[in-house]
Amino acid sequence: MEKKREGFGSRTAVIFAMAGSAIGLGNIWRFPYMVGEHGGAVFVLIYIFATILFSLPIFVAEVVIGRRSHSNARDAFVRMAPGKPFWKIVSILPILIPTIIASYYSVIGGWSLEYFFKACSLEFLRTDPGMASGLFGGFVSSTWVPLVMHLLFLAMSAAVVAFGVKAGIEKFSKFILPVLFVLIVLIALYSMSLPGAGEGVRYLFKPDFSEFTPRTFAFALGQSFYSLSLGMGIIITYGSYVRKDENILASSAGTAVSDLLFALLAGLAIMPAVFAAGIEPGAGPGLIFQSIPYIFCKMGLDAPHVSTAAAILFFFTVIVAAMTSLISLIEVGTAFLVEKFRMRRVRAVVVMFLVCGLAGVFCSLSFGPLSGLKVAGMTIFDIFDWVASNILLLIMAFLSVVFVGFVMKKDDVRDEFTNSGTKPRNAKLFNFIYFLIKWVAPIAVLLIFFTNFIL
Ligand code: PFF
Repeated sequence: MEKKREGFGSRTAVIFAMAGSAIGLGNIWRFPYMVGEHGGAVFVLIYIFATILFSLPIFVAEVVIGRRSHSNARDAFVRMAPGKPFWKIVSILPILIPTIIASYYSVIGGWSLEYFFKACSLEFLRTDPGMASGLFGGFVSSTWVPLVMHLLFLAMSAAVVAFGVKAGIEKFSKFILPVLFVLIVLIALYSMSLPGAGEGVRYLFKPDFSEFTPRTFAFALGQSFYSLSLGMGIIITYGSYVRKDENILASSAGTAVSDLLFALLAGLAIMPAVFAAGIEPGAGPGLIFQSIPYIFCKMGLDAPHVSTAAAILFFFTVIVAAMTSLISLIEVGTAFLVEKFRMRRVRAVVVMFLVCGLAGVFCSLSFGPLSGLKVAGMTIFDIFDWVASNILLLIMAFLSVVFVGFVMKKDDVRDEFTNSGTKPRNAKLFNFIYFLIKWVAPIAVLLIFFTNFIL
C-alpha cells in the first residue's frame, strides 16, 4: 500500500510554499544585475514575456508531473516511464542541479550575512555615501571573511535541514514573505525619490531595441527559469504535495505573478539607486551590494535610526529569503542520499555540507585570489552559474515538457489540469496550454540552448 504523503492544506499554503522557494536571491540579487548586464528594459520585456509564455506552461507541466506521480523528483520519471533507462539516467539531473546551485548560492548568502553584520555594527552610518560601493570590492576580494561567511551561512541552512523543521520554516516564510514585500516597496519608493533616480526607472522600462541580441533572449529565459525554481525538481516535488482538488493553473499562475512582481519591485529598488550612486549597471554579481548600501549611507545622514533599522531589516530579510531557498536546494540532495543510500539524515546533511561547502570555497575565492583563473572569460563562479542556469536547467526544463507532451498520455494530463473535468475554465484553456507545453516550450528552449553555444 502506498504510504500517505504529506500535503499542503490550502491554495494559499501552496502558493506560499512555492513562492518561498521561488522568491530568493534570484529576484533581489540576480535579476537586477542580469538586467544591467543584458541591455536594461529589453531584458525586462523579454523576461516578462518569457515568464508568461514559456515558464508558466513549464511550471504547470512540472506540477502535473509531481501531482500525477505523487513522488519525489527522481522517482517521478522512473515511475511514470517504467522500464525506460533514458528517463532513469535523466532523473539524476534534478539532484545534481540544485547541488551545484547551492554551492554558489551559499556564497552570496554569506555576503548578505556580512552586510547584515555591517548594518548591526553601524558601519553604514560611519561610511560616506560616495564610498559605500567601495566597501564591497575590499570585502569580496579578501580571502577569509567571505569564506567564513559562506561556510557559516551554509551551516545555518544545513542545520535547519538536519532538524527537518519543515513546519517551522514554512510558517516562518509565510510570515516573512509579506514583510519582504512591504520592505522592498518602501526601499523602492525611497530609491525612486533619490536625485538622478529617474534614469534608473527609464533604464528598466524604456526599451532600447538596439541592445537586443539573441543572448539577451537566452539569458532572460534562463533567469525566468531560475527565478521560478524550474528545471530543478523542486516544483515537481512540491507538485506532489498539491491536493487533488487544488486548481493547478491558479496556483501556478499565483506563484509566477508573485515572483514576477517581486523581481520588478527589486529592480525598482535597485536600479534607481545604481544610477543615483553613479554605479555601472553592468557591474555584475556585486550590484546590490554596491547600490543598496549607498541608500542606507545616504539615508543615515538625515535619519540615522531609520536608516540603521531599515538596513538591518533589509539584510535580515535577504538572509531569510535566501535561507528558505537554500534549504530547499540542500533538501533535494539530502532526501536523495537518505532514500537511495539509506543514510541517516544528519550524515546526509553533513555530506551535502562538505560537497557544497568545498565547491563554494572555489566560487568564493574566484572573486579574490582566484579571480585570474578563467575559462572562456568566465571565473569559477560564473561557470557554476552559467552551467547550472543556462545549460542544465534548460536541459531539465526541456525534458520535463517533452515528458508531459510526449511520454504522458494526453488524457492523463487533461485529467490533472482540469481535476477530472471539474474545472470548466481550465478545460477551456487546456488545448492552448497543452500546445504551449508540447510544441512552443520545447522548441523555444532548444533554440535558446543552442544560442548559448553558437552566439
Ligand atoms: N528561485 C530561487 C531564487 O530565485 O532565488 C532560486 C532557487 C531556490 C532555485 C530554490 C531552486 C530552489 F530549489
